[in-house]
Amino acid sequence: MFIYFFRKRTVMRRTHTCGELTKNEIGSKVVLDGWVHVRRDHGGLTFIDLRDRYGFTQIVFDPKTSKQAHELAYNLRREDVIEIEGVVRQRPEGTENPKMITGDVEISVSKLEILNKSETPPLEVDDRVVANDDARLKFRYLDLRRPMMQKHLLIRHKAMQATREYLNSKGFLEIETPLLVRNTPEGARDFLVPSRINPGKTYSLPQSPQLYKQLLMVGGCDRYYQLARCLRDEDLRVDRQLEFTQIDLEMSFINEFDIYELADALMKHIFKKTIDVDLKIPFPRIPYKEAMEKYGCDKPDLRFGMELFNVTDTLKKSEFEIFKKAEMIKGLCVKKCSFTRKELDHLINTVKPYGAKGLVSIKIEKGEMESSVTKYMNTGIQSELKKKSGAGDGDVIFLVADKPNVVNASLAALRNHFGKELKLYNEKDFKFCWVVDYPMFGWNEEEEKWEPMHHVFTMPKPEHIALLDKDPSKVLGQLYDLVLNGIEIASGSIRIHRPDIQEKVLSIIGISKEEANEKFGFLMEAFKYGAPPHGGVAPGFDRLVALMCGFNDIREVIAFPKTKAGECPMDGCPSVPDANLLKELHMKFDVGKK
Ligand code: AMO
Repeated sequence: MFIYFFRKRTVMRRTHTCGELTKNEIGSKVVLDGWVHVRRDHGGLTFIDLRDRYGFTQIVFDPKTSKQAHELAYNLRREDVIEIEGVVRQRPEGTENPKMITGDVEISVSKLEILNKSETPPLEVDDRVVANDDARLKFRYLDLRRPMMQKHLLIRHKAMQATREYLNSKGFLEIETPLLVRNTPEGARDFLVPSRINPGKTYSLPQSPQLYKQLLMVGGCDRYYQLARCLRDEDLRVDRQLEFTQIDLEMSFINEFDIYELADALMKHIFKKTIDVDLKIPFPRIPYKEAMEKYGCDKPDLRFGMELFNVTDTLKKSEFEIFKKAEMIKGLCVKKCSFTRKELDHLINTVKPYGAKGLVSIKIEKGEMESSVTKYMNTGIQSELKKKSGAGDGDVIFLVADKPNVVNASLAALRNHFGKELKLYNEKDFKFCWVVDYPMFGWNEEEEKWEPMHHVFTMPKPEHIALLDKDPSKVLGQLYDLVLNGIEIASGSIRIHRPDIQEKVLSIIGISKEEANEKFGFLMEAFKYGAPPHGGVAPGFDRLVALMCGFNDIREVIAFPKTKAGECPMDGCPSVPDANLLKELHMKFDVGKK
C-alpha cells in the first residue's frame, strides 16, 4: 500500500502552494495539493476552493477538459485532501476576487488524485464560524487549519526568530537549563515529578529558569538567553497557562538601565520584524508610586488618559459620613458622557469584586453638581472637587472611598472598563511603559508578614540597603515590570550577589538560614566563589504574541493549550496513571471518593 502510494505520488509533485498563483503564471501547467474548502456546482462545472497554509486557489472541473476528473470531483467533500494538475487561466470577467492574491486566476483541472478522504469534520474550518472553546481544543488540529490560527502561528514563529536574531547579534548565548529541577521560588505551586530511581523523592518542573540563569552568570557566561518553557501549577486566566514560554535573559556587570535599553531595543526589533510596526523607544518609565496614584495599579493602560485624582483632603471636610471616615477618596472623570440610572447602578458590579462598597457618581450640568451627595458638600468643597477632577459641563465624576488598596483597585478596574466600553483608544495601538522603583516588600495582611514584591533574589536600591534593618517598608528594589496596553509583559530585577544582603532579605521575609539552605543553598554556595553583579528580565512570550495578534487570550497563539480547568480535551490529560507505573514510582494516591 505504502509503495503504491509512494509511486503514485512521484508522478505529480506540488509545483506551487495555494497562495501564490497570479496573472504572471497564466498558461502554466501546475500541480497543487491541499484541502477541499468549499465545493460549488454551477452550469455543469464543479468549482473548489483549495486551501493550504498559504491561502486559497479556485480550481475548476470541466467535463470537456477531463471527464474522469470531473466525475471524481463530484464526490469530493469538505476537508478531503487532494492533488490536482491543471493549467492556470484568467478568471472570467466579473468573477475576479481582488481580496485574494490568487483572485485573478483559476486552475482548469486535467487530473485529480484523492490523497485522503475526510469524515464530516465536527467543526467548520472557517474564521467566520468559530466553534466553542471545548470543541476547538478537542479538535485542535482542525481549528489550527483556520487561516486565522495559521496566521497566529506564523506570527509566533517570526517573533521567535526575531528574538533569536536580535539577542544573537548582541552577544547572548542561547543555553538550555534543566527541566527536572529543585523547587524554584517564583511564588506559584510546583509540578512534581516522582523519581523512580530515588524512591520517595521528586523533581520539580521549573516555574522559570531563575536560579539556573543566575548560576550561568556565576559560571562566567556573561549574557544568556533562552526561549524557556515554564511550568506553574496556578489558577488559569485568559493570560495564564500552566505551561508558557518566556524570553528569559540575564546579563553580568550591568545595571537596571542596561536592561531597559536592551529590552526596549529587543521589543522594537521584534515588532518591526514580525508585524512591521515601528515602536518609539525608549519606553516611558513610571515610578510605582506614580502609577498607583495616577492609574490605581502597576499595569497602566497608556492608550488613553483618564488619570485618577485624589480628593481625600477635600472630601473629608464634607458632612458625608462615609467620606469623613474613609482612609482614602479618589475618583476619575468621564468626559462628555451621560449614563442612565440603570447604567449607573450596573457600574457598581465593576468595582464590587475589588471590595468597594459603593460608587458615587456626580454629573456636572450648567456648572452645578448633580448627585445624592452634593447636599453634604458646601460650595467651597464642590469647587475644590471640580478643580481637582478637571470636570466641566457634561462630565461625570465617579468617586470611591475606602482603604487605599480597595480604592485603587476599584478605580483601576473602572478606568479600564470605561476605556474599553467608551472606545477611548485605538485597538491597534501598542503602548509600552516600564513600571520602576517598586518597593522591595509588600505586607501580607492575612499572614502578617513581609513578602518580596518580585522574588527573594532582588537587590535593593544601593542607597536603601541601610534601611533594611530600620524600615523594610521604605526600601525600594531594583526591580521592574514592562507593561503593554495594561498587561504585564515582563518582569525582572537586578539580583543580590552578596551573601550578607541575601541573608538580610531572607530574614525580613521570615526565611531562616536553614530553610534557605534547604531550598537554594546551592545558589548561596555558588555566590561564595566570586559571583558577578548581574540582573535580567523575562518577557512572557505568549502574552507578547497574543497582543501582537490583537488578542488578550494567550490560547489563541499556543498550538496546544489547556482549558481553564487545566485539561486537554484532545489527548485527555491529566489522566489516571497506569497502576504498574505508580508501583514502579513508589506512589499511592490519596483521593477521597466524592
Ligand atoms: P515572572 O514570574 O514575573 O518573572 O514571569 C515573567 C513573565 O512571564 C509571563 N507569565 C506568564 N505567562 C503565561 N502564563 C503564566 N502562567 C505566566 N506567568 C508569568 C508574564 C510575566 O511578566 N524569573 C522571573 C523573571 C526575572 O526575574 O528575570 C519570572 O519568571 O508576562
